[in-house]
Amino acid sequence: MACAIFSIPGRKGADMMDSNRAVLEIDNLGLEFPTYRGAVRAINGVSLRVAGGEIVGIVGESGSAKSVTAMTAMRLLPEGRFNVTSGSVTVLGRDTLAAREEDMVDIRGRDVAMIFQEPLTALNPTQRVARQMVEVIRRHRACSATEARQLATRLLGDMHIADPEQVLHRYPFELSGGMRQRILIALAFSCDPKLIIADEPTTALDVTVQRQVLQLMRAKAHELGTAILFISHDLALVSQFCDRVYVMYAGSVVEEGPTMDVLKNPRHPYTQALLGALPEGAQPGELLQSIPGSVPNLSEPISGCSFAPRCQHVSHQCLSKPDLTGFNGQQHRTACWLFKDAAP
Ligand SMILES: Nc1ncnc2c1ncn2[C@@H]1O[C@H](COP(=O)(O)OP(=O)(O)O)[C@@H](O)[C@H]1O
Ligand SMILES: [Mg+2]
Repeated sequence: MACAIFSIPGRKGADMMDSNRAVLEIDNLGLEFPTYRGAVRAINGVSLRVAGGEIVGIVGESGSAKSVTAMTAMRLLPEGRFNVTSGSVTVLGRDTLAAREEDMVDIRGRDVAMIFQEPLTALNPTQRVARQMVEVIRRHRACSATEARQLATRLLGDMHIADPEQVLHRYPFELSGGMRQRILIALAFSCDPKLIIADEPTTALDVTVQRQVLQLMRAKAHELGTAILFISHDLALVSQFCDRVYVMYAGSVVEEGPTMDVLKNPRHPYTQALLGALPEGAQPGELLQSIPGSVPNLSEPISGCSFAPRCQHVSHQCLSKPDLTGFNGQQHRTACWLFKDAAP
């Protein structure tokens, strides 16, 4: 049967109506790395949900466990080097912590695509772009090499690459970082995944290129109904790109909600500090003033709120850890005693 590659069918119809179904659901996940100096408690009770077609951000300083959370969800951490201490992860309804490795290979190849920061390491330096794209496309779709190449050309065109044929003929090192990242984004969409996990995908690029690449990714995701989990330390970038955002600190979610609510009315002192650190009208990639203090050492037990040592509103209540609480059932929720008291 010839493959229907000339138009990747969007999921706007049936699946869009199904957009309440979670493509990724992480529930109370806890994870530690055993080390000779004791356990590093990297993830402490994280719950996170990405619905079909939704663009969701995770933002937080370096070391807050954004990457480890995403890698655990796709079971990419080296086996035997970590312990899951609580919780569950499901991708399209399947339990990824319990799945067999063959099933994970399937999930990673077909349902979820991943894009990381450094596109050069994800591309084979010894092969032309065309060959790599055709190989990946044919691994996931029953089609001829000619059809796969036509799809590659079209996807590169969608990424606003003016002369796709010429780019397909190049080796990765002959291309700019922005061009390589567009190729990887095109490849991520080529297998028509339900979810793309993009971990700091544009951090290596300059500000203008970052914004262009993300706009293209967002447009394509909307066209196809693809959900995106976008991970970044850059709050300005996340706010321009995501519908909903999770703010992480020291392995926990401290605030979550629709991006506009979180930006306009940040409740957690950490989110306020992240925002306060942004210059007015900040552009993505702009350097932040740093928040005083540093992320806690995760090999020491943390009791209470992990942000307390850096928080200007700290009180005796912060000795115990506050849960995430919303107001009047709102999606905007925060884990801070200041707001727990105010909650009705
Ligand atoms: N293999 C590992 N062994 C021990 N600690 C680790 C390992 N991988 C990550 N960590 C620790 O987990 C925490 C979260 O890391 P990471 O998810 O990479 O942060 P982020 O992506 O938010 O910058 C950090 O404190 C990091 O040092
Ligand atoms: Mg990271």
